Amino acid sequence: MKILLLGSGGREHALAWKIAQSKRVDKLFIAPGNAGTAEIGQNVNIGTNEFDRLKEFTLANNIDMVVVGPEDPLVNGIYDEFKNDSWTGHIPVIGPSKKGATLEGSKDFAKGFMMRHGIPTAKYRTFNGANIAEGLAFLDTLRPPYVLKADGLCAGKGVLIVPTLQEAKQELQNMLGGRFGNASTTVVIEEFLSGIECSVFVLTDGKHYKILPEAKDYKRIGEHDTGLNTGGMGSITPVPFATPEWMKKVEERIIRPTVEGLAQENIDYKGFIFFGLINVEGEPNVIEYNCRMGDPETESVMLRLNSDIVDLLEGVATGTLGQCNVDIDTRSAVCIMLVSGGYPENYVKGYPISGIDKVEGSIVFHSGTALKNGQLVTNGGRVIAVSSYGNTKEEALQKSFNEAQKIQFKDRYFRRDIGKDL
Ligand code: AMP
Ligand code: GLY
Repeated sequence: MKILLLGSGGREHALAWKIAQSKRVDKLFIAPGNAGTAEIGQNVNIGTNEFDRLKEFTLANNIDMVVVGPEDPLVNGIYDEFKNDSWTGHIPVIGPSKKGATLEGSKDFAKGFMMRHGIPTAKYRTFNGANIAEGLAFLDTLRPPYVLKADGLCAGKGVLIVPTLQEAKQELQNMLGGRFGNASTTVVIEEFLSGIECSVFVLTDGKHYKILPEAKDYKRIGEHDTGLNTGGMGSITPVPFATPEWMKKVEERIIRPTVEGLAQENIDYKGFIFFGLINVEGEPNVIEYNCRMGDPETESVMLRLNSDIVDLLEGVATGTLGQCNVDIDTRSAVCIMLVSGGYPENYVKGYPISGIDKVEGSIVFHSGTALKNGQLVTNGGRVIAVSSYGNTKEEALQKSFNEAQKIQFKDRYFRRDIGKDL
């Protein structure tokens, strides 16, 4: 089988690592990929939103399946583009239709969907320029802190949690006034939920679903969850509070109604669903949906998937996922993210990276790296993920911390408290 994987981050390197282990894969292409994916497949210099070029490439290279890593091409409708083109209609794209990706692409749509299907989530209301006065009055009825969400995609930056009513009112005006461009011409205001977050992942063929290992990610730059939000500083799986009893609630109240709701609403969805959950006094609530795997969760979750991922992806494509088995490794897996100094604000790219060859027993996934004249250099805020197994989470963390020390680049930073809160 020939597979084309789209994306260029740590998530895609981890997916590529897993896909490449399948005996069924003859050739793996990654567009555009990074320096890490180049070692296990062939990078193709095409952007994830260049649909015409991607279609040409799949036809010219007899690609049997396209696997989409990031949300952008999904929200832009890559699934429909391939499906509705008589030349590419036979090539399965793993990822939801444009309508399905709206679960991530529009917070208002996602909230409405949860309401229609009785899925537990924070109370909310949606506002735009036409009813801003009602929005200000709605804020008066809430208790602090206040949660304001830009409706559209904002690369993870569109959610504001503000402590005072005055700031909340100011931010509502800023957002509707274009703070996040078109993404915030509609704003969801919702009740603040207090609890610990957990990411749950599902593969679905639109009818059946399989639950993958859950994970917790660490979003803040500083230790003890302080400082600015990042794309994610590390992840850990399993999550201790995601007991079988808790996961049963998640499945019955959230996963099943979501998959059934998509089918009822005739929304074509063949791909990953990422449930961003929060545990409020033992009860799972949905904070957000994403239409893809998480990053950096994938860099630990893939370690625990024993089954051949290509069998599962084929089950998704052919609607036979119900017959597939998902075998999960009982060990812990963690990922520690090495980032550029200054991230998530200003940082310098292009510093040489050394020491990866000294890493033993952990798996190194590239996130923001590039090759310059044969030298591996930093090329992003999040640079490298160091992932490890352990019989306990402590063992896995110790392993990743030890191996992470061996990788050097100027102003390298990583959080040393990943997993310590659990
Ligand atoms: P989102 O992009 O919707 O995942 O929101 C980003 C982050 O904001 C989440 O990971 C949570 O930490 C936080 N957050 C979002 N909505 C709420 C809420 N209703 N209550 C508490 N925290 C929230
Ligand atoms: N780790 C959170 C995300 O991928 O959105």
